[in-house]
Amino acid sequence: MALTQTELKREVAREALAYVEDGKILGVGTGSTVDQFIDLLPTIREKIPACVSSSERSTVRLEALGFKVLDMNEVDEIGVYVDGADEIDPRYSMIKGGGGALTREKIVASISKRFVCIADESKKVGILGNFPLPVEVIPMAARAIKARLEAFGAEVTLRDFVTDNQCHILDARGLEILEPEILEREINSWPGVVTVGLFAERGADVLLLGTNEGVKTFTR
Ligand code: A5P
Repeated sequence: MALTQTELKREVAREALAYVEDGKILGVGTGSTVDQFIDLLPTIREKIPACVSSSERSTVRLEALGFKVLDMNEVDEIGVYVDGADEIDPRYSMIKGGGGALTREKIVASISKRFVCIADESKKVGILGNFPLPVEVIPMAARAIKARLEAFGAEVTLRDFVTDNQCHILDARGLEILEPEILEREINSWPGVVTVGLFAERGADVLLLGTNEGVKTFTR
């Protein structure tokens, strides 16, 4: 019998436990797949001195389970960062931010030695862009950034959501992202953009993909 998407998420979350480094600070992402990972962390509690989290949502869950959550400014380096993705391509570039935590996710990933992406098989794509690309913006720049994304051929909507950083998110639909690194650099250079949800310059190092034939591991 085929596994449900939730069961696939649970399986990759379980597999990711083996990547947690003993005695090192653990980076914890955001989303429904990561929620499953967090729920399993008490089984390896003794390996984890503390975590850094990419959202208030994950922080609340971690603290409720008794884990210490450090501020990024207290930490120089993270061993492993475990997070989900909305899409991931064959070169391990990702679209992230469906849950709105893209900026903090990118910050935590930037000081992590290893990025382990956990995802069910629906997330693996040939070309990024079917999932709407999130762009976090300073509120006063939303209109200007929307116009620039539309000039790229996207259909853009303002999400009814305020981020952990008190900013807004534009979702850009209809982009066929053939060169994720170039687009990431371009959008990030626009005044008023906080972060684009393209993770190409710093993509994943490992992909744990939940499939009906079991968890498949891809390593860069
Ligand atoms: C959160 O902002 C996102 O980047 C998530 O990592 C991504 O949306 C994956 O979420 P799910 O695990 O809920 O699919």
